[in-house]
Amino acid sequence: MLEQINMLREKGQNELNAITSTDQLPEWYHQYLGRKGDLTSLLKQLGTLSSEERPVMGKVINEVKQQLQESFELRQKTLKETKLHQELEIDDLDVSLPGRPCTTGHLHLTTQTLRIQVYEAPEVESDEYNFQLLNIPEYHPARDMWDTFWVNDEVVLRTHTSPGQIWAMREYYPEPIRVILPGKCYRFEQITPRSEHQFYQVEGLTIGKNIRLTDLIGVMSEFAHKMYGAERKVRIRGSYFPFTEPSIEIDMSCSCEKKGCRLCKYTGWLEVAGAGMVHPVVLRNGGYDPEEWSGFAFGMGVERPAMLKHNINDIRRFYSNDLRFLQQF
Ligand code: DAH
Repeated sequence: MLEQINMLREKGQNELNAITSTDQLPEWYHQYLGRKGDLTSLLKQLGTLSSEERPVMGKVINEVKQQLQESFELRQKTLKETKLHQELEIDDLDVSLPGRPCTTGHLHLTTQTLRIQVYEAPEVESDEYNFQLLNIPEYHPARDMWDTFWVNDEVVLRTHTSPGQIWAMREYYPEPIRVILPGKCYRFEQITPRSEHQFYQVEGLTIGKNIRLTDLIGVMSEFAHKMYGAERKVRIRGSYFPFTEPSIEIDMSCSCEKKGCRLCKYTGWLEVAGAGMVHPVVLRNGGYDPEEWSGFAFGMGVERPAMLKHNINDIRRFYSNDLRFLQQF
């Protein structure tokens, strides 16, 4: 029997060494170490031996079983590693390469196109954009309408959002334009409850074929009604801005209903925006031929309408960062 055991061990070991693929392992295991395998059947034959031989053989069989089990596990490990190496080589997989970035969603093209219509222009401007291209040449008396922070002879903190009109036109030409240009503006001004040296404006610009003054009035009336209520009346006054012709100012009826109050300075009307038809010189500076194109523009404050709407009496509260004020809204 001992011979049988030794032969079995040798055969098992040799066959195991000859195995080159993990696929073949179960079969080998079944044959030698399985419940119906060769070693098990040897163990079963122990009953035929004498009582002296039985424990000796039992021990030998169990030792061989143990050895083959260990060899099997070792072989299994080696083959798995080889397999992994081969796979890595075939697939050329470099696990040290950075992973694929997670893709995040992004705005739909339509949304992008809609959002692009909110145009952000620089807050630090050149004299050229803030004034000259808006039809306000050097030394023109209209410059007195804007108290300006000069950085040097050519650079200013923008006094209004209107230079954004030029930026937008030069970017979008030759497309028709409908943009809103919100942003901060700066003026070298005495700070009072009604004026700050920094404040926000919203500029609006429409360029197209056959754009008319009535389009402007329609848009502004709609805005006033949406912002302050449908019962408000809108009034148009003639005005002057170098970059529009004709120029108008848009007023809205005060909530005191013409009885007169401090808010409307007892006139019954509140100023909403300056506006007009884009001046031909400005159209041309933006790249649009005034023979072919026309447009309207408007500019309005942000803080003052908010003050009117929420009954705030001092513009300085917007910038003093007092949470007792800010948390009310
Ligand atoms: N930029 C002017 C200001 O700050 C406001 C203004 C008036 C803007 C008429 C316009 C406009 O676009 O057409 O006083």
